[in-house]
Amino acid sequence: MKISFAEPKQPSRGLAVFLVGGDGALGAHAKAIDKATEGAVKRAIDAANFTGKKGESVSVLAPHGRENLNIVIVGTGAAQDLDTIRAQEVGAAIYKAVAATSAKSATVMVEAARGAKVRGAGLAAALAGGARLRCYRYDKYLTKRDGGGSAPDRLQFMVKGAAAARRAYNDFEPVADGVDFARDLVSEPSNVKSPKWMATQCRKLTKLGVKVEVLGEAQMKKLGMNALLAVGQGSVRESQLVVMRWNGGGKDAKTVSLIGKGVTFDTGGISIKPSGGMEDMIWDMGGAGTVIGAMHAIAGRKAKANVIGVVGLVENMPDGNAQRPGDIVTSMSGQTIEVINTDAEGRLVLADAFWFTQKKYKPDVMIDFATLTGAIMVALGREYAGLYASDDSLAERIVASGNAVGEKIWRMPLDEAYDKQINTPRADMKNVGPRWAGSITAAQFLKRFTNDVPWAHLDIAGVAWSDKELPVMAKGASGFAVRAMDQFVRDYYEG
Ligand code: BES
Ligand code: ZN
Ligand code: MN
Repeated sequence: MKISFAEPKQPSRGLAVFLVGGDGALGAHAKAIDKATEGAVKRAIDAANFTGKKGESVSVLAPHGRENLNIVIVGTGAAQDLDTIRAQEVGAAIYKAVAATSAKSATVMVEAARGAKVRGAGLAAALAGGARLRCYRYDKYLTKRDGGGSAPDRLQFMVKGAAAARRAYNDFEPVADGVDFARDLVSEPSNVKSPKWMATQCRKLTKLGVKVEVLGEAQMKKLGMNALLAVGQGSVRESQLVVMRWNGGGKDAKTVSLIGKGVTFDTGGISIKPSGGMEDMIWDMGGAGTVIGAMHAIAGRKAKANVIGVVGLVENMPDGNAQRPGDIVTSMSGQTIEVINTDAEGRLVLADAFWFTQKKYKPDVMIDFATLTGAIMVALGREYAGLYASDDSLAERIVASGNAVGEKIWRMPLDEAYDKQINTPRADMKNVGPRWAGSITAAQFLKRFTNDVPWAHLDIAGVAWSDKELPVMAKGASGFAVRAMDQFVRDYYEG
């Protein structure tokens, strides 16, 4: 979708969107158009009982005085609540209201009631950003499009200080590109999305200035990454490890490492999953999607920071060569793992990815993303991601970064008492704990591979995909934490 900004002038044709706040009072633009249409706007608002709630909309078609113009009025909610996040949500509502008409393009008259936290250029950029996030759709495999043809492809935002709005939006656009890239990866069906296919997608980041290296099974074998390799050994598709490096920060800058679980399909392996809902396991590479999307965003806007992305890409399949429950594998760290359940595979992948990242790159901080456990969905549902951290200030920064962009993250506990639950007499640890606290024991397992590097783990099993529409996102892959990680790098690792 093409987004542009222009200095305001009253629209006379096409589709124009006007904003009205939660008090229902018309702003200057809305008042002017109401006057030009002999009160049609006010009449429509009254007739529809429009109250200006966020996202509410009402339309006025071809009114007297402006016969070539269709008007849509969109509510912004109470002015005092209108911050960047809410403004993005209003932007998404504008996109939907325009899409509901058959217009291919629309002009948005940007204005906020007194007391709004974002106004003018900042408001215009946030509205545009929300519309941009909301316009994403995954239609790659649709051969016919019914109704889809009405999706708008141009929005123009009229605002005083259009140039400043453009600059602010330019700063956001690479972030949306990163979110969309993650959503494309997560949405791809697993017959196409092999580990090698994923590696090929990572290589596309080269054109943004990211250095991309891909390790195959032979190289991983040499490095002793037997835990990761064990997960992929039942698949005919070769496992891959991809390293993406963005060096925008110079020599003395700290290094942030982002590590992702990239299980391109999780059947459970020999501990096979029930078939109902198994198709959801196409998004078991959501953690890798987040990392790749975040690298795309960070490099796309040329962040002044050093960031490394590492993704472990495997397919978890049952076959004659698959690993068995009861197998004991020696991880790259030297620690041995008894594989009780082959469906607890993500932690095996991350264990070796963690060790590789530390050994090779000595990062100052390690943050991983994984659709790791169903248990985190039992705890937090589909609203919050679960966060585990060995470092309090790191945890606080991640939660704050999420809050700043509207991605909800809730910290969960780590404790010696949980750690003990993955001990086993046969090896240094086993890959599952007892029945309860499954998301926590999974995190404790990961912690055993972090040494003393400040580390945080986001279990995104509940949030990487949404079955319902979200405020700024269509259903489906969410690209969760791409925006939070971009914000995290902005706020704590640049300048
Ligand atoms: N990929 C799954 C977790 C998952 C479940 C993600 C539902 C998204 C939606 C993970 O590999 C898994 O199978 N975890 C097991 C662990 C168990 C065997 C200890 C689980 O959560 O049941
Ligand atoms: Zn999995
Ligand atoms: Mn699994």
